[in-house]
Amino acid sequence: MKLRHWHLGIISALGLGTMLAACGSPARHDSAKANALEPKLAMSPGEALYTRKCGFCHIAKNTGTMMLERRLGAGNGELAKRTDLEADYVVSVARAGLMSMPAISRVDATDDELRQIADYLARNTKPQAVAR
Ligand code: HEC
Repeated sequence: MKLRHWHLGIISALGLGTMLAACGSPARHDSAKANALEPKLAMSPGEALYTRKCGFCHIAKNTGTMMLERRLGAGNGELAKRTDLEADYVVSVARAGLMSMPAISRVDATDDELRQIADYLARNTKPQAVAR
C-alpha cells in the first residue's frame, strides 16, 4: 500500500513537470506573437485596423499567411508586404471571402474601416502591377 502511494506521487510529479515544460516555450512564443498583433500608436489608422481585424490570420505565420504562401510562393504570404494588391480587390475578397478565408461582415469591419485597411494594403502598389 505504501509503495503504491509513493509511485503515484512520482507519477504525478513527473506529469506536472512535463506539463510545465510543455507550457514554457509556447507561452513565450505566444506573447511575442501577441505583441506583433497589438495596434501601436505610431501606426496609421489603416494599419492599426488591419492589425486588429485581419492580423490574427495575416500577420506572421498564421493561416492566411500560410495559405497564401502555398498559392503564391514563400515570402509572398504577408499581405502587408505585397506590392500588387489593389484596394478594390482587397475589399471584394474581404466581403465575399475566398476559399478558406471567411467573409468579413460589416459588423466585423464597417465599409469605412475596410476601405482604410484596403488603402493601407494597396499603399505599395503601382497601377500596372495589380493582382487579379
Ligand atoms: C480567419 C482567418 C482570416 C481573417 C480574419 C482574414 N483573412 Fe484574408 N485570407 C485568409 C486566408 C486563409 C486566405 C487565403 C485564401 C486562399 O487563397 O486559400 C486569405 C486571403 C486574403 C486575400 C487574397 C490575397 C490574394 O492575393 O489573392 C485578401 C486580399 C485578404 N485575405 C484580405 C483580408 C482582409 C483585408 C482581412 C481583414 C478585414 C482578412 N483578410 C481577414 C484568412 C483570413
